[in-house]
Amino acid sequence: MPKNIVLGVTGSIAAYKAVEIVSCLIKQGNRVTVIMTSCAQRFVTQVTFQTISKNKVITDLFVDSENYDPEHVALAERADLIVVAPATANFIGKIASGIADDALTCTVMAARSPVIIAPAMNDSMYLNPIVQDNIKRLSKLGYKIIEPEKGRLCTGRVGIGRLASVEKIVDVINKELKRKRTK
Ligand SMILES: Cc1cc2nc3c(=O)[nH]c(=O)nc-3n(C[C@H](O)[C@H](O)[C@H](O)COP(=O)(O)O)c2cc1C
Repeated sequence: MPKNIVLGVTGSIAAYKAVEIVSCLIKQGNRVTVIMTSCAQRFVTQVTFQTISKNKVITDLFVDSENYDPEHVALAERADLIVVAPATANFIGKIASGIADDALTCTVMAARSPVIIAPAMNDSMYLNPIVQDNIKRLSKLGYKIIEPEKGRLCTGRVGIGRLASVEKIVDVINKELKRKRTK
């Protein structure tokens, strides 16, 4: 039975890795709907995700919906799982503060399914106490956080903040879907 997975992509240099995540999930037989923030579209194009996911990509809150429900509500209700990878400090801060001002934050806010968040940012941003507090808050609220890795960052420096590997993210997604099935 194919699963409905919503993949949120935010404005991180690691956005290109989300293409590989979508590709793996599609190969496994899932239906993937990608939601991109406007900053994410500065890094990877909508066309790339549309082609790999074989599905329309959501970039705007104010679009004509095929049904009566606004798209973000319909998507959130249909989703078996929502994953945000990569998740920026900005996105994490918005969700932790209850801000829903674009298609992705509105969908996550309306979620009924488990939500997985994979942060990616430079080490100084990641270690900022505000970001750390926001991550802890989301974790306490039941969001599943996939910790970033230590490694070479886009600045060339080695530190913590690199998006977890595609394999790890796909593995966590599959485990979460399995856990949901056996509940
Ligand atoms: C080249 C470049 C790389 C960036 N990479 C990251 C990143 O990896 N993580 C992050 O939190 N912000 C990063 N930013 C900053 C975000 O793009 C910025 O905070 C933006 O407002 C995020 O918007 P969004 O969360 O709506 O996608 C980067 C900005 C630039 C110009």
